[in-house]
Amino acid sequence: MQSLLNKKIVLGISGGIAAYKTPELARLLMQEGASVQVVMTEAAQQFVTPVTMQALTGNPVFTSQWDSSVANNMAHIELSRSADAIFIAPTSADLMAKLSLGLADDLLSTLCLARGCSLLLAPAMNKQMWEHAATQRSVERLEKDGIALLGPASGFQACGEVGMGRMLEPAEIAEQVVAFFQKKTLRGKKVMITAGPTFETIDPVRGITNHSSGKMGFAIAKAALEAGADVHLIAGPCNLPTPLETTGKIIRTNVVSAKEMHAAALSAADCDVFLAVAAVADWGIAKPSKNKIKRQGNTAPNIEFIANPDILLGVAKTVKAKAGKPYPYCVGFAAESTDLEKHADEKRKRKGVPMIVGNIGPDTFGSDLNQLLVIDDRGSKKLAKAEKLHLARQLIQLIAKNI
Ligand code: C5P
Repeated sequence: MQSLLNKKIVLGISGGIAAYKTPELARLLMQEGASVQVVMTEAAQQFVTPVTMQALTGNPVFTSQWDSSVANNMAHIELSRSADAIFIAPTSADLMAKLSLGLADDLLSTLCLARGCSLLLAPAMNKQMWEHAATQRSVERLEKDGIALLGPASGFQACGEVGMGRMLEPAEIAEQVVAFFQKKTLRGKKVMITAGPTFETIDPVRGITNHSSGKMGFAIAKAALEAGADVHLIAGPCNLPTPLETTGKIIRTNVVSAKEMHAAALSAADCDVFLAVAAVADWGIAKPSKNKIKRQGNTAPNIEFIANPDILLGVAKTVKAKAGKPYPYCVGFAAESTDLEKHADEKRKRKGVPMIVGNIGPDTFGSDLNQLLVIDDRGSKKLAKAEKLHLARQLIQLIAKNI
């Protein structure tokens, strides 16, 4: 799935050592389907050459305001007129200051001033430069002007110092650019999601779990963030990176057992939407052993189970009782081996939630693909087989409509 299909991005590069990462970024944007037109400042060319960027993007690189190859000799107007967004990575402290004041003394700054599209900046500089009052004034002005700043991050810097000012990694930037272009239907909303399996401890080396990979829940978390929500992701044991972590809009709580997931969910239940995507163990172990249970010939141990709390039911009930209304909007998931629609709708009614999403087919665990059946009180809607992120985006739009 290409998330930037038909998007035209002017990729600006200013003078900073982080420019060595920009060729990789250009490739990632193009892999998502964007067409990339590079514009470089004079200083940027000290760090990466126009030839490199031309070879990667397949487009000639613009470096001068006075380019006679542009028909009307107005490259700044031509380039910004056709762009969906201008994105500058790295953006130096000097360029941030210029843009915050509306100065336009070279091609890149002029085309930013002449633009009719969005402007996104990925700042990159030494930590002293970033912390300087003048740069912080630029940040404030740029944000007031509706310009999006992606990063910077904290960490090791080329100058040998450690601190705030590093450019985000190309993959993180590309994710944020993709997110920028998604519909902001959940802006200002709080979304809680449980994801992954749970693990019920038998003894220090054994336990009971299931095949859930967490991919669907994590994809939904990403789609909710892309739609502008603040997300609290409560994850069972799964080895997945936190989506869009560098936006600072996601909190992740890692849990192991269903009991822990239940406690975490109840304490975060003050939200607008709750999606219970986790495959929660129905039973826990009554008395987990402190020491490893030794094998005793061919005699199997007697392990006593206890029923685990139903997290979805718990959140739906607690908040209903508190607020006197069915809030947050609770969404359950169902994996059934027979009669999906019938069982899923029964589950929706039994749990008293407005929406249930059924996983169609047996091959969803661990896969990047899925197909869903979304059931609410208006009926059911099938979301055809696609990448989980694509389905997650469709699901988030349906939920946004319902709330
Ligand atoms: O009852 P069942 O497990 O079939 O329902 C599945 C839905 O309920 C899923 O949304 C799952 O996350 C949620 N669930 C839960 N707590 C449990 C069991 C299931 O939140 N203990």
